[in-house]
Amino acid sequence: MTNHFLKLSDIAPVEIQQILNRAADLKNGAISDTLSGKSVTMLFEKPSLRTKLSFWIGTEKLGGKPVYFSPEEVGLGKREPVADVAQVISRMSAIAVIRTFAQSTIEEFAANASIPVINALTDSEHPCQALADTQTITEHLGSLAGAKVAFIGDGNNVAVSLSYAVAGLGGNLVVASPKGYSLPVEDLEGANAYGAQANGSVTQVTDLEAAIQDADIVYTDVWTSMGQEDEKAKRIKDFSEYQVNPAVLDKASANVKFMHDLPAHPGEEISDGLLYDYRSIVFDQAENRLWSQAALMEALI
Ligand code: NVA
Repeated sequence: MTNHFLKLSDIAPVEIQQILNRAADLKNGAISDTLSGKSVTMLFEKPSLRTKLSFWIGTEKLGGKPVYFSPEEVGLGKREPVADVAQVISRMSAIAVIRTFAQSTIEEFAANASIPVINALTDSEHPCQALADTQTITEHLGSLAGAKVAFIGDGNNVAVSLSYAVAGLGGNLVVASPKGYSLPVEDLEGANAYGAQANGSVTQVTDLEAAIQDADIVYTDVWTSMGQEDEKAKRIKDFSEYQVNPAVLDKASANVKFMHDLPAHPGEEISDGLLYDYRSIVFDQAENRLWSQAALMEALI
């Protein structure tokens, strides 16, 4: 059976920890040529900066060759059936990295692929982001165990993957969202089950104050994700009480760190300049995409 990483819970908590350990070693210079003579094909149906850059450079660091298809080139399931694209890419590359809309598309792709398939963001999950996030939190707090992480905003793809990763490593995630924008119930339950053995937990609230109280990490993401542009005006209204700004961070733990997966929309989910606040670790987070995904590729190959 082929190893895929289509959602965070495709790997066990112990495997997350192994990937994070290896990511730290890679960051410290312990590079290997695991992908020598191999190609990694990226096929993206939505725009990307960090994900494309980190898979591209990560592949090169491990001695492999990246191949990239932009949203305009693909036509996944339109110009050509998903199953056929999966088979063709499998014949010529070692790993497929897919960014698409529906989770069912990447599942169909993986079902027809004979190489590992990595989710580089779907509407439902962004599991590679959660690896980099937990690597970054580990760097700053020492470990996730017992840490309180507050996610303020939309219970979206980033929040879902983060829920599993934080709970799996023994952290306590509190998601504060307006009514109607909570984590999917199956993921709230799923992440709590996934984290039970490590004493991790995920809680959904509407009260921002309750979430940030004593939080070691305050994390937010855009209110309007890629593909939801038509809902933008309504979302700006619905989320207006959920902006993260210096006053919000002041109410968290004294040593709180601020995280955002980027790109940010200052004036919406964060105040102007918050990315450069002394408590912000967003660029550590961005860099760690490189190391955690290189470690993931090594684990899957
Ligand atoms: N939730 C955002 C994440 C972007 C990296 C989106 O899906 O657009």
